[in-house]
Amino acid sequence: MDVILRRATLPDGRTGIDIGIRDGRIAAVEPNLQAAAPEEIDATGRLVTPPFVDAHFHMDATLSYGIPRVNRSGTLLEGIALWGELKPLLTHDAVIERALAYCDWAVGRGLLAIRSHVDICDPRLLAVEALVEVKRHVKPYLDLQLVAFPQDGYYRYPGAVELLDRALDLGVDVVGGIPHFERTMAEGAASVRALCEIAARRGLPVDMHCDETDDPLSRHVETLAYETQRLGLQGRVTGSHLTSMHSMDNYYVSKLVALMAEARLNVIANPLINIVLQGRHDTFPKRRGMTRVTELAAAGLDVAFGHDCVMDPWYSLGSGDMLEVAQMGLHVAQMTSQEAMRACFMAVTEVPARILGLEGYGLAPGCNADLVMLQAADPVEAIRLRAARLLVMRRGRVISRMAPVEAQLALPGRPGRVTFQASPAA
Ligand code: FE2
Repeated sequence: MDVILRRATLPDGRTGIDIGIRDGRIAAVEPNLQAAAPEEIDATGRLVTPPFVDAHFHMDATLSYGIPRVNRSGTLLEGIALWGELKPLLTHDAVIERALAYCDWAVGRGLLAIRSHVDICDPRLLAVEALVEVKRHVKPYLDLQLVAFPQDGYYRYPGAVELLDRALDLGVDVVGGIPHFERTMAEGAASVRALCEIAARRGLPVDMHCDETDDPLSRHVETLAYETQRLGLQGRVTGSHLTSMHSMDNYYVSKLVALMAEARLNVIANPLINIVLQGRHDTFPKRRGMTRVTELAAAGLDVAFGHDCVMDPWYSLGSGDMLEVAQMGLHVAQMTSQEAMRACFMAVTEVPARILGLEGYGLAPGCNADLVMLQAADPVEAIRLRAARLLVMRRGRVISRMAPVEAQLALPGRPGRVTFQASPAA
């Protein structure tokens, strides 16, 4: 073995497990591993998990907060308008610099795979070219998947039809869309059809911003499920956001969810952004704005939580912390049972890894030795504490370390160190 992590706790609840690593892969996962290695890491009482995965992000916009101004209304539509003001100001180098800075944050947070949408509604395709370069650059330490995203509408933005094809020719991996932003419901449906046909022709996955609105009559996900089935794309198509589902008629949803399950659609909710952007026109009662996470998961669909935005025209906060995303998802969906809280952890690790089709992801022998050791005893504590990522490993090599979080108290007659863990590691 090259490295052995000793006495780790795994996300499935097994404790006292040794993880042996050889040639960048996991070679053994068992208690009391009888082997030696030049590097042994004590993981007693620490949760060791495969890396966090963000299935929905916008890396072309990240870290641009305040350029050229901030979003005053806080709405999705002002965010899109603001992005339109920022786009002509973008430079190749600035996009790359911000994206690489964000990838550094991601690595420090144990986030080693990101699916990022990239806006193709720009005759220069500046962001596409920049992010294709970033993808190449970060490949040794982070898997970056790109989605060709027509932010201003596939039919609504003049030239988007041709630009989307050009973006795919440049090496963008996934076909995107935004049917609810087209001029009419009919054009939205037509865009879903055309984009799914492109994906079928090119053998690519689909991941669309779909029904990101409070309007319960925004039903493009129905067309997405239909086209998925018609073109035989089952399992390869993802509906991102689907926020209108929170306000849809329950009888209609009972039909819709079954259609989505038949088409094996994947679903990505973005809790931080949904809770902030949706329900903006409501007074009270005010809708939460996230899609029906528990209902969709109960129907057998893969439902992941994405970050969507960090410090950009739509969202002023965030730091690449998928545990913050999981924590917000847990609250908004009221997923408070032990089982549901663990599902929230899976929604930022295993589930998005499946949606992205990551090869070699996981903790079984043969998988890539990509691991994160947390200052937490289990997945629920990891979410509760947004626990420190003590160590992040890629292909068996440590690429980031963080000191454990603790406070030194100066109280009369009380021990001085507190870590906020229910049962602190030895
Ligand atoms: Fe998005």
